[in-house]
Amino acid sequence: MNRYIFKILRFNPEKDKKARFAEYQVPLREGSTVLDGLFYIHKQVDPSLSFRFSCRGSVCGSCAMNINDSHRLACETQVKNLGSSIKIMPLRHLPVIKDLVVDMERFWQSYESIKPYLVSNSVNDKENIVSPAERKRLDGLIECILCGLCFGSCPVTALNENYLGPHALLKHTRFTEDLRDEYKGRLKTGVKKEGVWGCRNVFNCQEVCPKNLSPARAIIKTKLKVTRKKF
Ligand code: F3S
Repeated sequence: MNRYIFKILRFNPEKDKKARFAEYQVPLREGSTVLDGLFYIHKQVDPSLSFRFSCRGSVCGSCAMNINDSHRLACETQVKNLGSSIKIMPLRHLPVIKDLVVDMERFWQSYESIKPYLVSNSVNDKENIVSPAERKRLDGLIECILCGLCFGSCPVTALNENYLGPHALLKHTRFTEDLRDEYKGRLKTGVKKEGVWGCRNVFNCQEVCPKNLSPARAIIKTKLKVTRKKF
């Protein structure tokens, strides 16, 4: 067993006026993750600690948080790579509900605004076959698990509360690239001041994506598509 110090930013709106760091000694085996450490604290030390998790396997994205000043999934972040002192804070740019749990409403609202579904104008029940080449256009765009790490790491989402955010704009490109989509207003949902034109090419979104996707490149792809159409 190795011992780690977890410094967690705690906030309970029913008791606290402002957030404060609380420290916990956490014994963990080789191979343990930050999520294992949070489970230990919750079970052995303080059951009032609040955090989200679900799949424990980097699939659902629920345990996105700020770990040692970088945005990561707690379930896939091994403690041995972080040093003996581990600082944990909630995902940035979203209001804190309690401890590490944030209110994702703005995140989901901007996602919803790009209409994240295929629209068909034809009324028939025939299968819409996609060729391997057409399907390949979506590689790097459909694997997003909507964890929010890119949103928390993007400085523009902090400065402009109307900015759609890298998650929504990656998905926007996913739908503009899908040849089955027939929604006439598709481009407009993301091509606007608070959409792709709001991106400042910071590329933090690419750095933190747990699926190695690049919202930044997707945004550039859409910008180029629009620009070439115009001129
Ligand atoms: Fe933000 Fe990524 Fe653009 S970090 S500014 S969405 S390149």
